[in-house]
Amino acid sequence: MMDKKVRDLINDQINKELYSAYLYLDFSVYYDEQGLDGFANWYMVQAQEERDHAMLFLKYLQNNGEKVTLEAVAKPEKTYASLMDPLKAGLEHEQYVTSLINDIYGAAYDVKDFRTMQFLDWFVKEQLEEEKNADDMIKKMELFGSDPKGLYSLDAEYAARIYTAPSLVLD
Ligand code: FEO
Repeated sequence: MMDKKVRDLINDQINKELYSAYLYLDFSVYYDEQGLDGFANWYMVQAQEERDHAMLFLKYLQNNGEKVTLEAVAKPEKTYASLMDPLKAGLEHEQYVTSLINDIYGAAYDVKDFRTMQFLDWFVKEQLEEEKNADDMIKKMELFGSDPKGLYSLDAEYAARIYTAPSLVLD
């Protein structure tokens, strides 16, 4: 039996990851409306990755014989006043997700749930990449975003992102 607090936090994380997918889908829709297909593609792929994260947490509970309870996914708030806004919101969101992963890790550590700690190690590493990607996008937008040719090149770069399944796979 998994510790109740650990189980509840993991169950909540399914919802948080699905919200992340919904948030990035919202970013994708916004950039599509702005005519930036590459940015839209980047966030569409990101939304797929977030859905994968949700599924990994869900599968982990199931593999441990724990009950999964799905809750309503919150509506993303759409208040983007500039092309930079979603990028900054993305970094802020990933920092928040990192804090959630750390909270679950801390709860698992408290009850010596080494199995969950090992499962979470993948997410700890993944969050470093998630924050770095978000930070890089802000820096590139600061450097090149105000120049039309620079923005065009950035958009072309983001158009090349393709979806790949996560390296962590649970049977
Ligand atoms: Fe599921 Fe972007 O972290």
